[in-house]
Amino acid sequence: MADQAPAMSFDAQRSAQIVADSFSGTPDERLREILTSLVRHVHAFVKDVGLTVEEWEQGIRFLTETGQKCTDTRQEFILLSDVLGVSMLVETLANPAGGGLTESTVEGPFHVVASPPRRLGDTIDERGSGEPCLVTGRVMDEDGRPVAGASVDVWQADADGFYDVQRPGEVPDRNLRGLFTADGDGRFWFRSIVPRYYPIPTDGPVGRLLKITGRHPYRAAHIHLQVRAPGIRTLTTHLFVAGSPYLDSDAVFGVKESLVHDFATVDDPARAAEHGLPNPFRWVDFPITVRRSGAPAGSDARQGPA
Ligand code: BEZ
Ligand code: FE
Repeated sequence: MADQAPAMSFDAQRSAQIVADSFSGTPDERLREILTSLVRHVHAFVKDVGLTVEEWEQGIRFLTETGQKCTDTRQEFILLSDVLGVSMLVETLANPAGGGLTESTVEGPFHVVASPPRRLGDTIDERGSGEPCLVTGRVMDEDGRPVAGASVDVWQADADGFYDVQRPGEVPDRNLRGLFTADGDGRFWFRSIVPRYYPIPTDGPVGRLLKITGRHPYRAAHIHLQVRAPGIRTLTTHLFVAGSPYLDSDAVFGVKESLVHDFATVDDPARAAEHGLPNPFRWVDFPITVRRSGAPAGSDARQGPA
């Protein structure tokens, strides 16, 4: 026996070290770092709360159901990450604010289909089912130069609080989505309806989690925007409606004050006619400042939806 390697003997006190050591031969340095830290934090968590076997089993069941709820158009794991604030943390750390840059926020699970290309000034509302509004904006870089031809991908929920993919066959396909190309001055404009607050999907394990913890499922009213252009860092953000309920308790922690804008009422018949809107109408302007990546065009790692 003396010439054999000693058996690896597990003990609770040294558990994290023992398991972390098992990954010490991982060739990918970053993967090793992530796994080692993950093991340390998970073991510390188990000890911190004194996790029982029953609770561990319950947790495993919850994660299993979370995976089982996922389909091509439903991502319950992203939803879980969202309600735990992890999505916002990762997004915010990856896109630090400052220098006048427009702040980012979560992409969310509904950017699962490609937005139809539309012309500047078009409406993305194919049902005429809400309060009409005009959205204008200008994409600039941090030095104040317009980003000519930037692509501005927008998507939002309807006046009942649903995305098109949640009601296939009931509403026009790709309703309330649009892919716009900013003009030579970085300007974009389109028509839509004033978005309304809505609940995130609650018919799965994440909904149950919110319910048993006494949390509501609502998101403050918003329009999603994703801005891309060669040589700029892709920006994924929201335009929130000032005064919307849930700005102070958004279910996925997506609100940043700088993204909350007034959808003002405009009483101007000539302007309404110019844009094909009834008078009066609601109008919001969203100036967007993006960061030049300095990288060659097309090198941005993020990809749009299928
Ligand atoms: C959304 O805004 O589309 C969204 C974001 C996170 C979770 C659910 C929905
Ligand atoms: Fe949304």
